[in-house]
Amino acid sequence: MTIDYQWWKTATIYQIWPASYKDSNGDGIGDIPGIISTLDYLKDLGIDVIWLSPMYDSPQDDMGYDISDYQKIYPKYGTLEDMQNLIDGCHKRDMKIICDLVVNHTSSEHSWFKESRSSKTNPKRDWYIWKKPKYDEQGYRQPPNNWGSFFSGSAWEYDELTDEYYLRLFAKTQPDLNWENPETRDAIHNDALKWWFEKGVDGFRIDTAGLYSKNQAFPDAPIVFPDSIYQPSGRLAHNGPRIHEFHKEMYEKVTSNYDAFTVGEVGDCTKEEALEYVSKSSHEMNSIFLFDVVELGCDKKDRFRYNGWDLIDLKKAVENQCDFVKGTDAWATSFIENHDQPRCITRFGNQKNFSKSGKLLAMLETTLTGTLFIYQGQEIGMTNLPRSWGIEEYKDINTINYYNAFKQQYGKDADFKEKEEKLMDVINLISRDHARSPVQWNSDNYGGFSTVEPWTRVNDNYKEINVENQLYDKSSILQFYKQSLKLRKKYKDLFIYGTFEILDYGNKKLFTYIKKSPTSNPPKAYVVLNFSTDSVKFERLIDSSFELVHANVEDVDDDLLSPYEGRVYIVE
Ligand code: NOJ
Repeated sequence: MTIDYQWWKTATIYQIWPASYKDSNGDGIGDIPGIISTLDYLKDLGIDVIWLSPMYDSPQDDMGYDISDYQKIYPKYGTLEDMQNLIDGCHKRDMKIICDLVVNHTSSEHSWFKESRSSKTNPKRDWYIWKKPKYDEQGYRQPPNNWGSFFSGSAWEYDELTDEYYLRLFAKTQPDLNWENPETRDAIHNDALKWWFEKGVDGFRIDTAGLYSKNQAFPDAPIVFPDSIYQPSGRLAHNGPRIHEFHKEMYEKVTSNYDAFTVGEVGDCTKEEALEYVSKSSHEMNSIFLFDVVELGCDKKDRFRYNGWDLIDLKKAVENQCDFVKGTDAWATSFIENHDQPRCITRFGNQKNFSKSGKLLAMLETTLTGTLFIYQGQEIGMTNLPRSWGIEEYKDINTINYYNAFKQQYGKDADFKEKEEKLMDVINLISRDHARSPVQWNSDNYGGFSTVEPWTRVNDNYKEINVENQLYDKSSILQFYKQSLKLRKKYKDLFIYGTFEILDYGNKKLFTYIKKSPTSNPPKAYVVLNFSTDSVKFERLIDSSFELVHANVEDVDDDLLSPYEGRVYIVE
């Protein structure tokens, strides 16, 4: 069988979330020159492509996912010249760079919205989604429907000036653009995409790529949370009737004119829905992020309603993300962290087995099919924030709004303290803040991220966990990532392009799978990962010759896997 090799399939992509990556000018906030200063480090790690989270001008209510000008850089991150230097700096090193495309909404500070809001007759009024209020039986003004915002409360914001509501599925300063209007789509194509392609950007991660087409009747959503006034908009806003038409148009008019890579954040969908976005023949996007793994244990409609997970759930989630492309012309992604997720060691590993479980997760991720993504700090095993920190250390709008809404609802209950502690346990496990603490570069003050107190607190463990320490330690997680990435490339037909098959579905301690190459060079890999704190008997589940090519322990016992031990064998 021939393989359809593409640079963006084979690539290892490293996500940079600029505010917390590296501060070069001592203002406590990461910046573009800071990123440039680390390009050689990234190249050496084995990175081919950088994905830069929003660096555009923005009031930063949602850390840049609220853009006020697509063609300006947020001044604290740098200038357009800095950005050009970053693009050129990547290319000079034979690396590529993709940006974040945030076009479901803009900031309310964007000039498009300012015009739209100025009057009902403004030519840009219809660029956003405006609706008249509803009135209840008592005559009180109410939002047009019961849709809830992803950031708590109603998804509608009342604007006194024209006595109408605008839709904002996220923060109140993130009004949703009206994709039904062709002029709006043209402006998006030109300002947010073409302009950057012309500057040399190699593609985009498409933010909330499933949300552009809303049900135009804007009906009430079904009640899934009876304890809540507002309900998840679900399929009324997600994967809507014109979503594929919009993506095809964007591909045809813009993306297809460049040698570009696109990855859409689609999240929740069935196998059939996912394939519609990502089949090569669909002409929409190259790949998508599905949330099966990162949402494990969380209610898909409310991450802070957390029920836990076991290894069988994890297997199923990994399988869904790998397998939906099997036998099709579609392409998958492998990722376990990003700026919206907690740290994988805390979440899926075990902080007491810090190094081994970090390496185990590296083995899992780097042996899976599809384009691989690593999030800043993941390569050194950065962990969640300490449980002892109070809510005042959490800065993310999602966490803060949720906490405040919770306090408003339950604050007067006699057992509020208990309820609050339980919520803090979940926040400490699941919130987005854990990905957003400054990268720990060395053991200097503030982890070497900055010379002054950073905008958000550095994790207390920066003296033990940092890049500098790990660069000089052969047994570190960082070195292990380097080796794992090399192995992935060496056997790319197996790991990147191969198929995936679980051998021990019912086992709650071990995760064993086979990767099969579409060519026969070599034919198969056998991966066994002990996800438990126990030593477990090692049995070969297939009859073959086994050649060990990677392990996270020095001495491999033929009959026993120690806690969090992982191995990769090449088998015939
Ligand atoms: C998804 C992004 O990853 C997240 O950080 C952001 O808050 C929302 N989209 C809104 O843009």
